[in-house]
Amino acid sequence: MAINWYPGHMGVARKAAAESMKKIDLVIEVLDARIPYASCNPMFEALRRQGQRPALKLLNKADFADPEQTQRWLQHYNAQPDVKAVALCAKRPREVQRIPKLCQAMLPERGTRLKHLRMMILGIPNVGKSTLMNALLGRHVAAVGDEPAITKIQMLHSLGTGMTLLDTPGMLWPGMTQYVSYKLAATHSIGRAAYEDEDVAVNLAGYLVSQYPALLIKRFGPLPENCDGHGLLEVIAQARCLAKKAGGLDLARAATTLLNEFRTGALGPMSLETVEQIAALVA
Ligand code: G4P
Repeated sequence: MAINWYPGHMGVARKAAAESMKKIDLVIEVLDARIPYASCNPMFEALRRQGQRPALKLLNKADFADPEQTQRWLQHYNAQPDVKAVALCAKRPREVQRIPKLCQAMLPERGTRLKHLRMMILGIPNVGKSTLMNALLGRHVAAVGDEPAITKIQMLHSLGTGMTLLDTPGMLWPGMTQYVSYKLAATHSIGRAAYEDEDVAVNLAGYLVSQYPALLIKRFGPLPENCDGHGLLEVIAQARCLAKKAGGLDLARAATTLLNEFRTGALGPMSLETVEQIAALVA
């Protein structure tokens, strides 16, 4: 599968964000806790490192992720210079409200009337940035929705005395790898029009069968020996009685079922990448 989903407004927003990077003190990067590597926009990570800006990495949707893997990812990021990482669920306002303090602690000399702490928040589409902004600012500032790429304009907000936060639209990057495309499609950070559900579901199913067989058995019943991604779709079609009118299992509907149930967390807490897998991938 080659997904090349890069809506035009993202190019414009990328230039604006690259410019803004020079004028801020700290980056708040919202990642999807299930795919911390795939949900990191490499263009901005490179700019941030180049500009030597510290980052608060927020592993959001932690309620959907495998807690063991999330801990490993936090250890991984917290061992990096100029990085602080925390896991959270943006739907819980109390978890979000600790963010300003965390930022302040990273740059204690800033955040005063005379020396502002200027922050910029970045995240790919559908990672939960609008939900987080709404909870952070305590009012409705951004449209929350499950269709990627809703917020399109940069906006500056005050976070109280001496703290400002620049909000940016959810941005992807051109030429992403097939590995990343599949992960972003599975978590719905890429618009539906850009891929076939069945293709993405087979890839997702293959990973889940290898990592979380017990959770799948609990949900869909026994798996055959040497079950692969395609085999899991067959199991789902059988378990849910999904048959085509002309006869045979309806694997397209099984694919949609798997994607929906994964995306809504109905399968249980699952992550789609581990620190070790990514180390091997980028080696
Ligand atoms: P974005 O601005 O980054 O594009 O994302 P947005 O906040 O619109 O969130 C996308 C979807 O993810 C929304 O779901 C939102 O509720 C959900 N979400 C955001 N943060 C979290 C989190 O930490 N945990 C969980 N479980 N979900 C989160 P939706 O289906 O559009 O709407 P809703 O019915 O959930 O409100």
